Amino acid sequence: MAHFTIQDFLSKKKDKVKITMLTAYDYPFARILDEAGIDAILVGDSLGMVVQGLENTLPVTMDEMVYHTKMVSRGAGDCMVIGDMPFMSYQAGIADAVKNAGRFLKEAGAAAVKMEGGAEVCDHIRAMTKSDIPVMAHIGLTPQSIHRMGGYKVQGKSDEAAKRLIEEAHAVEDAGAFSLILEAIPLKLAKKITKELSIPTIGIGAGPHCDGQILVLHDVIGLFERFVPKFTKQYANVKVDAVKALRKYKAEVEKGIFPSEKQSFK
Ligand code: KIV
Repeated sequence: MAHFTIQDFLSKKKDKVKITMLTAYDYPFARILDEAGIDAILVGDSLGMVVQGLENTLPVTMDEMVYHTKMVSRGAGDCMVIGDMPFMSYQAGIADAVKNAGRFLKEAGAAAVKMEGGAEVCDHIRAMTKSDIPVMAHIGLTPQSIHRMGGYKVQGKSDEAAKRLIEEAHAVEDAGAFSLILEAIPLKLAKKITKELSIPTIGIGAGPHCDGQILVLHDVIGLFERFVPKFTKQYANVKVDAVKALRKYKAEVEKGIFPSEKQSFK
């Protein structure tokens, strides 16, 4: 497989071939995603919850994002790497946004950044793309707005809210975003947005009609159990397998089975 690029995002939409994305936060999992043939990796600020054990994504810092993105870039192989702009890395101003987004490309090996928000970040998107920093937009449920939204709730359910999301989707496309994440919105609304836009939509809890899908890796492989969103699907239970293996290791050490001569030096 050749290295996945922004042009591939667009041609997959044109050719009606689904785009596959997952999050990853470190080198070993980036290697696994590459071996599985996943198109693009988002180093999501979800790492605050699934790696750092935080309540929400708000405390995650720019330095932490750069640190994790560097690790992912080393293992990503042909996957395109996208860095996620954490809370307060762009909200305070456009100059901040361009500078922080640039760190993902300059220091961390990412090819693009993702940023939450609609109309309120269009000027940011314009300034970033003007600086040759490709931007993936993100509307619907935007976890950095958890306090305004009053929790992780499905968005765009009323006619008025749906209309607003359609307008925001067009606005971020017009501002220059190369793709758009739609999170936790009704599937019919996601279908309409996907049909109207020329850039690809990537769904998470947005139904089957998006141009691609993304999920949080730790949900998919059973490594995060604090809560399981309705929209995710668990394809493996790595935690159960790991606990089983480590219990066996403990028992073998206690019984003197490990290490044997095979693992010892003569
Ligand atoms: O932070 C993240 O992992 C995300 C995805 C869930 C889209 O924003």
